[in-house]
Amino acid sequence: MGHCSLSNNQLYIHSSGEVYTCSFLQNKPEHVLGHIGKESLQEIWNSRSRLDFLESHNKGNPGHYCQKHQQDFLCHKISNQRYFNEDGNLKRLDIMLDSACNLKCIMCTNIYDRTGGLKSEFFWLNNKEVFSSIQEIELVGGEPLISPYFPRLVNLVHDLNPQCRWFATTNAHFDLKGEIVSSLLKANFESLSISIDSLKKSVFEKIRVRSTFEKVYENVFAIKRLISNIQINTVVQLDNFEELIPIYRWTQEHDLRFYPILLQYPDTYSLKHLDDRIKKKWIMGVMEENEDLKSKDIFFFIKKFLAVDSVRTDPEIKMSYLRQLEILGKLYG
Ligand SMILES: C[S@@+](CC[C@H](N)C(=O)[O-])C[C@H]1O[C@@H](n2cnc3c(N)ncnc32)[C@H](O)[C@@H]1O
Ligand code: SF4
Repeated sequence: MGHCSLSNNQLYIHSSGEVYTCSFLQNKPEHVLGHIGKESLQEIWNSRSRLDFLESHNKGNPGHYCQKHQQDFLCHKISNQRYFNEDGNLKRLDIMLDSACNLKCIMCTNIYDRTGGLKSEFFWLNNKEVFSSIQEIELVGGEPLISPYFPRLVNLVHDLNPQCRWFATTNAHFDLKGEIVSSLLKANFESLSISIDSLKKSVFEKIRVRSTFEKVYENVFAIKRLISNIQINTVVQLDNFEELIPIYRWTQEHDLRFYPILLQYPDTYSLKHLDDRIKKKWIMGVMEENEDLKSKDIFFFIKKFLAVDSVRTDPEIKMSYLRQLEILGKLYG
């Protein structure tokens, strides 16, 4: 098992109010550390269940789910772990404000399930100490920015702790006004990720069911005027794989960061169903273009794709990947 430092510094609050070490463990009863309706975050942090989890984690034996997620998603290598260290203080909260969403994307793995955990006044009244000292808060969902708990949390934490760094991932499918704008301005957003799965209206709306493309597209630029560091998340899947490079170029034109995510689940939309000849032509083209573009994010996407896809054994792909490694491996390791 790879080393994972999350359990040294983070708690994850599920929309049900259950607390875990990280979101990958949600809905696994054996990994519940406590409940925000009954215990303060500090109590959960000091609880026997969390300390036991920490100990088994640090011994490299945290159990089946961690091993599986490390294999499938390299979760232990996610970039935000650069902030973490071994001092054992609670520094980061990952909070699923609500599992509800205004869209119904075809590939979404989010489960709309037990929610309403943040209704508990106990949570809002008994965590002053943690809210005053926490260094980072990440909001996840469902759609976090339309939740009424978004402005409530921003107001509470900001008054106690204006230095706290905020992160969120959003579908940006809302009217950008009122409390959403004031909360985005008030919170000290280090980065906001916006999901754009296509730049073609028909494809975007096919993937992001119930959405209107123009609403999100316009919001990207309107939000960028409020928060300078915007990342575009693209889930690369059967309907949009040919847009990988065009979306990257678009982000570069508009001073946006790019984070392509290889869809692995649900299986129906995975690139593994593509005809091998089409897949080969596509990934060879991506590698060729990236020799000039030299994008770190595309390089890591290629690495991930070839780690899981059967085309990796093709001799021409191997040659092309070696060239990619030679050019970009030197830059990015
Ligand atoms: C679950 S969403 C929640 C935030 C927000 N509702 C949104 O769509 O951005 C978080 C991120 O997961 C991505 N995502 C959705 N389905 C996925 C899948 N099957 N595999 C990997 N990522 C996925 C979304 O595109 C988004 O960037
Ligand atoms: S907008 Fe986000 S949470 Fe909602 S269905 Fe799409 S990916 Fe899932």
